[in-house]
Amino acid sequence: MTSPVALITGGAVGIGHATACVFAQRGYRVVIADLSGAQDAAHTLGSEHIGVSLDVTDEAAVRDLVSGLDRIDVLVNNAGIGDSHLPSVDQEIEDFRRVLDVHLSGAFLLARECGRAMTRSGQGAIVNLSSIAGVVGLPRRNAYGAAKAGIAMMTRSLACEWAGSGVRVNAVAPGYARTALVEKLVDDGRIDLAAIQRRVPQGRLINPDEIAEAIWFLASPAASAITGVTLSVDGGWAAFGDFGDAS
Ligand SMILES: NC(=O)c1ccc[n+]([C@@H]2O[C@H](COP(=O)([O-])OP(=O)(O)OC[C@H]3O[C@@H](n4cnc5c(N)ncnc54)[C@H](O)[C@@H]3O)[C@@H](O)[C@H]2O)c1
Repeated sequence: MTSPVALITGGAVGIGHATACVFAQRGYRVVIADLSGAQDAAHTLGSEHIGVSLDVTDEAAVRDLVSGLDRIDVLVNNAGIGDSHLPSVDQEIEDFRRVLDVHLSGAFLLARECGRAMTRSGQGAIVNLSSIAGVVGLPRRNAYGAAKAGIAMMTRSLACEWAGSGVRVNAVAPGYARTALVEKLVDDGRIDLAAIQRRVPQGRLINPDEIAEAIWFLASPAASAITGVTLSVDGGWAAFGDFGDAS
C-alpha cells in the first residue's frame, strides 16, 4: 500500500512548512502547494515529497492539482496573507476582497475538491487555519478577522456534512507566531511584538512547531472522535478577558 498523502497549502515557509516537516517525518508523502517556493521546500523534505505552484484562489488549478493525486488523506488549509491594518475608513475594497478570497474561498475550493475524494474513499481529515483574530475582535483586521471567523464556521458546517462519510474537519486558531507574515507587520510598524507578548498569559509568541503539533493531533487517529472544533493554540490569549486597568 502507498504511503498516505498530506496536501499543505502555503507550505513553503512558516507554519505550513513546520507542518510539512512534521507530516514528512511521520510517514506521509507531503504535497506542498504554494504561490512560490514550493518545489524548493519539498526538495528539503526528501525525494518522495512534491512541491506545486498554486494560487489557492484559482479554481481550475485547484481542481487539476487534487484530481492528479493518487490519494488524499489529509488537507491542511494554511495559505494566507495579512490585512492592510489601515484604519477602516482608509481600507480598499480590493484588499478586503483579496484577503477573503485567499483565506476563505481558497480554503473552500481545496476542501471541496479534497472532500470529493475523501468522502468517496470514506476517510480523510481536514485542518483549517483560523486565528485569534477569528475568535476575538481586533481593530482594523476586518477582512482577516471575518475570514478567520468564517473558517471556524465553515469548519463546523463541513464537519457536520461529512461526519457520516468518515471525514473529519477541524481548525486551529493560533496566536502570534514569528513568521514572515508577522515580520512584515513588524517591519511596517503595524504591530508591537513586546506589547503582544505582554497580552499573552504565557508571556511569549507561539512557535510554528507548536501549531504544527496541534494540526498533527487533529489530523491523527488520536483525534478520531473530534470534528468541527477550532482548537486555540495561543498561549491563553483567547481565554484571557483582558480588563486593562479595570482588572
Ligand atoms: N503567524 C501568525 O502569527 C499566525 C497567527 C494566526 C494564524 N495564522 C495563519 O496561519 C497561516 C500561515 O501563516 P504564516 O504566518 O505561516 O504565514 P507566512 O506568510 O509565513 O506563509 C504563508 C504562505 O502562504 C502562501 N500563500 C499566500 N497566498 C497564497 C495563495 N493565494 N495561494 C497559495 N499560497 C499562498 C505564501 O506564499 C506563504 O508561503 C495563515 O493562514 C495565517 O493567517 C498565522
